[in-house]
Amino acid sequence: MEKKRIVALRRLNEAHLQRLRETFEVTYFEEPQQQPEAVAAALCRAHGLIGGKLQVSPAMLDEAPQLEVVSTISVGYDNLPVAELSRRGILLTNTPDVLTETTADTAFMLIMASARRLVELANMVREGRWTQHVGEPHFGHDVNGKTLGLVGLGRIGQAIARRALGFNMRVLYSNASPKPVLEAEWGIERRSFEQLLAESDFVCLSVPLTEETEHLLGYEQCRAMKRSAFLVNIARGKVVDEAGLIRALEEGLIAGAGLDVFEQEPVAPDSPLLRMDNVVTLPHIGSATHETREAMANCAAENLCQALRGERPRDLVNPEAWALRHPHPLQ
Ligand code: DGY
Repeated sequence: MEKKRIVALRRLNEAHLQRLRETFEVTYFEEPQQQPEAVAAALCRAHGLIGGKLQVSPAMLDEAPQLEVVSTISVGYDNLPVAELSRRGILLTNTPDVLTETTADTAFMLIMASARRLVELANMVREGRWTQHVGEPHFGHDVNGKTLGLVGLGRIGQAIARRALGFNMRVLYSNASPKPVLEAEWGIERRSFEQLLAESDFVCLSVPLTEETEHLLGYEQCRAMKRSAFLVNIARGKVVDEAGLIRALEEGLIAGAGLDVFEQEPVAPDSPLLRMDNVVTLPHIGSATHETREAMANCAAENLCQALRGERPRDLVNPEAWALRHPHPLQ
């Protein structure tokens, strides 16, 4: 039987590609942005697409009539036209669960690093500016005993909450739906977004980017936070109105920030955020460990295989597309 054809985009290693080649005819692009025409040509014949940071436009889909599944190697899919895929009956899958703990580690690393001024003080040592015993001007702030406000209590938010409880923090959350079981078990408390901003010493964003969450937090929201509070963003850059955040930091409305994500990535080298000692910046590494990226690639490959075998993939994002492909499930 003829093999189904898939287009694979960065980053899959040789072992992943080899496994996929056992079942599919694979066309792999390590640097797809440098070969957009070749990618488009391969997509015209493809049944499946797999990769990270996928850019898929309706025009590309027009040219890919056989496409059955798009498998993104990420939990977020804000970069993909979900409604357009669903309308065409193209399944979309993502990689939740496997990156939850690692991304929560990144959030907690940013909480600790911003509170204890890790980067600023490590740079002082490295650059030979540690000339006398550290005194009050270099003190940080405790994390233990403080209040963490989690904006979003999905899988990653919950994993951050567990860490915070281990650090003896009080945990507040704002979330569309209440979590009474977790409130009872963990002693966490739900607040409105506004109340959470006012009460928290650390505000951590862990919501997906949607129309509702775009620019959820900007200058006014920073003004509603304590002047001693820190903002941590491990969600998506566009959840924050960056110009508003920069202004708030310049005016000292909040104490600092820990940012893994930016409105534009890579962040512009002349961004004022990069010159601020009280801002810890990371290059979008929420899930970037060897173990987790391997697990994500395996998960995405498995979703792709399930879809192309005609099975409902485990991590299906758009059940509407499945329903369109399988209109009479019991027949
Ligand atoms: C994700 O999985 O969504 C990470 O942020 C990587 O893009």
